[in-house]
Parts: sequence; C-alpha cells; structure tokens
Amino acid sequence: MDITEEIKNLKKAKNAVIIAHNYQLPEVQDIADFTGDSLELSRKAMELEGFDVIVFCGVRFMAETAKILSPGRKVLLPEADAGCPMADMADPEGLLKMKEMHPGAWVVSYVNTSAAVKALSDVCCTSANADAVVRNAPRDKVIFLPDRNLCWYVRQKVKGKEIVCWDGYCIVHRRFKPGDVAMARKLYPSGEVIVHPECDPEVQSLADGVYSTSGMLRRVRESLSGVFIVGTEEGLIHRMKIENPGKTFYSLGPARTCSNMKKTTLSSVKNALVQDRYPVELDPDVIRGARRALERMIEYI
Ligand code: 13P
Ligand code: SF4
Repeated sequence: MDITEEIKNLKKAKNAVIIAHNYQLPEVQDIADFTGDSLELSRKAMELEGFDVIVFCGVRFMAETAKILSPGRKVLLPEADAGCPMADMADPEGLLKMKEMHPGAWVVSYVNTSAAVKALSDVCCTSANADAVVRNAPRDKVIFLPDRNLCWYVRQKVKGKEIVCWDGYCIVHRRFKPGDVAMARKLYPSGEVIVHPECDPEVQSLADGVYSTSGMLRRVRESLSGVFIVGTEEGLIHRMKIENPGKTFYSLGPARTCSNMKKTTLSSVKNALVQDRYPVELDPDVIRGARRALERMIEYI
C-alpha cells in the first residue's frame, strides 16, 4: 500500500490529526490536515476537538506549544531531535539574570523558545503579532527574546517603549544577504521582494515588505505583482505555488533550508503513528506558567 494511504488509515485508527508548519517537506505538507505558521498552528492545537492524538510536523518548540495548549492530548513529534537552534539560544538561567538586570520589565518571548523559558515570561508572541504584543505590554520597558532581528523589527514599529533585545538569531535566515536582494532586483526588476523578520536588519531594510510566513501568504494573494522573491525557508514556496498558480516565485539567493524542519519525512510520520512516538512530556508547573504566557498572547491580539 502507498505510504500516504497507510498514514490515512493509521490516522483514522488512532483518531489522530496531523498538523504541519509551512516549512515542512512538500509531501509532509500534502498529507497534513492543517498547515500554517506558528500562530495559526498554536490556535489550531487549542481549538481542535474530537481528536486523541496530535502529530506535530515541525520542530520541538512548536510541538511543546501544542502540548501546553492541549495538555490532555497526546502530542507526538515524529523526529525527536528536530529542534530550533534559535530557541536553544535562550535558557531559563540567562533569562532570570536578565530579569534581575531589568527589574519590572515585561518579558515577551517569541514562541521559538523552550517551554521552560515561556514559563518565566509574561507573554509570548509570534512573528505575526510581535509588534502588537509589545505595543500592548502594560509596562514601558520590555525584554524581548530570543531573536535580535525580530526585536529590531519590533523597535522600528513600536515607539515609546524601551526594548531590550536578547542576542539570538536564526541560523537559516541570517544566510540571506544584502547582495541577494541586489541580485534579485537585477534578475527580476518587476519582482516584489518579501522577507521574514528573522532576516538581518540590512536585508529587511532593502526588501519591499517584511512579513511572517502567514503574512507572506496573504501578501502574495493580495498583491497585484506576478513575481515574488521570497526571503524565508524555501518550504513556504510550495504552498505559495499551490495557492497562486498564475504567479511565479523565486527564493532570495540560493534556496535556504532549515535542516531541522526537513527531518520529518513520510516514514517518520507513519512511524510516529504506529509506535506512538515521540510523545511530548512536560512538567505540569512548566505547562501552567507557559500556558499563561501563551493565553495572554492570544488575548492581546
Ligand atoms: P512563523 O512564526 O512565521 O511561522 O516562523 C516560525 C519560524 O520558525 C521562522 O523561522
Ligand atoms: Fe528555528 Fe530558524 Fe529553523 Fe525557524 S528556520 S525553526 S527559527 S532554525
């Protein structure tokens, strides 16, 4: 039997739902019940009813977020070591020190953080709502972690608050360079250059627009342009092509891939369902603290 058929049958037998981030391999996106960005998938995990198991095709912090929002369900991460190097750049000890250095500051954590860091934060955000979350923070001073580039983006958008940036970054998005934008302008003069806020400030400043992955999908749908140069993990282009058959998409510079996002394959999804692996387990206190920060984000926006 074809592996996609096997997965469909297993899904039914286990009463499972498969959700996949926009950066997953095309064939994994194609078998998912839902695809989306971090914010959409967090919401989906909370709203879903009638399923016993969530198979989360993405990286660990995303599966943890699903578990925090749906603690009563089994959440499976098909590849145990699919992590996010940027999330690993922020640790609870370092955050406690930073809080001591900036007493009274409101801690805003990007969802790309461990559950333990979320539990020490006042509120979470995603790249789709980071500026709104910081704007709505009830304090004048904010600690923003872990992405220094998203933090720079928020500083451009939100005036009147002191924002202290953590020094983390995404190893994939930092590979986009200003020269890639110059080259794209030369090759596709009528193309629209859209980039993710995890890119370096120089790249963001040269682009036509800066968007989260869901923001990029919306922009591509609504823009009158027919050609787009996309500065984010190349997996997103799969969905752009499906949703916009009349438009043309190029990666900004050579296609950049997140090796962690690409660890999940159809075989790992099948094995996850057959062997119930790898369940996300979190300490109940961590779940409680992290849930408060995530729920606040959802209330804020
Ligand atoms: P989104 O929040 O846009 O889905 O991005 C998540 C991510 O990991 C970007 O690198
Ligand atoms: Fe983490 Fe960057 Fe991969 Fe997103 S693209 S999961 S931020 S390493």
